[in-house]
Amino acid sequence: MAMASISLPRIQSRNLKSDLDLDASELPALLDLAREVKRAPAAFRHALAGKSLALLFEMPSLRTRLTFELGMQQLGGFTVLSEGALGIREPIRDVARNLSRWVTGIVARTFQQETIEELALWATVPVINALSSDWHPCQALADMQTINERFGSPRGLKLAFIGDGNNVSNSLMICAARLGMEFAIGVPERYSPNAKIVAEARAMGGKVTVTSDPFAAASGAHAVYTDVWASMGAEQETAERAAAFEAYRVDDRLFAAARPDAIFMHCLPAHRGEEVTDSVMESPRSAVLDQAENRLHAQKALLLMLLADEQL
Ligand code: CP
Repeated sequence: MAMASISLPRIQSRNLKSDLDLDASELPALLDLAREVKRAPAAFRHALAGKSLALLFEMPSLRTRLTFELGMQQLGGFTVLSEGALGIREPIRDVARNLSRWVTGIVARTFQQETIEELALWATVPVINALSSDWHPCQALADMQTINERFGSPRGLKLAFIGDGNNVSNSLMICAARLGMEFAIGVPERYSPNAKIVAEARAMGGKVTVTSDPFAAASGAHAVYTDVWASMGAEQETAERAAAFEAYRVDDRLFAAARPDAIFMHCLPAHRGEEVTDSVMESPRSAVLDQAENRLHAQKALLLMLLADEQL
């Protein structure tokens, strides 16, 4: 792809507060661009020259933070970082308005989704959710890219999520619905996903199953996904959740309920021996490192769609 000929797709909502900000044409367009960015990274190396990204992290990160830093550098831009709780020293609206005078975009990892919403309300530059209480949209973009690479197209496939109805499963559910994938979650009833998000996915035409039977969820799946049982912010519930999720560990027996060519997926970091066994993590069908790699490519595509000039 020659730089002079690139006309980038845009994201109408201007932000990525959640997966709901990507409509039925924008999500496939982003995944197409991510494939191109991965195939020919040099074609985009000056695309964000002179642009800057503020990274606001209330919680730790390896993959998200480093892939945004690398991604901006590889696109010709740069990042600045601020760690710590937002809304303590000063109101979030003041943070958003200060940053809007200095940078081209804001990436924020926050305990509460409301913090993302308030940043987006007051900022005059795009705001990207880098994980919040309710959503992890950047993770789901990389995951959908990984599924595309393994199966050609997500349409008609079944994605099984085994475990907590959390931010990651919410994002996957909405992306699956947008892309025509069946989504099944095997989860103890009290940790079921938010009913409003399930309703949103179904309203998009998504086939969504919520079941307390992990084997029913995994049955016939093309991809079996899990995440830690106690997400960041819920660590005080670790013991209680370990008991509740004991029957939801993805081991060889549960993975065998999926198709013989099914892949195993995890957003990482993983707690081996808890939500997944070593045997499944290290299986030839484990896609976890592809997912981690694709964080870089998918986020570069997102940054291009949100921050680049109309025509490269
Ligand atoms: N999957 C993910 O978001 O990883 P980090 O918490 O390391 O960013």
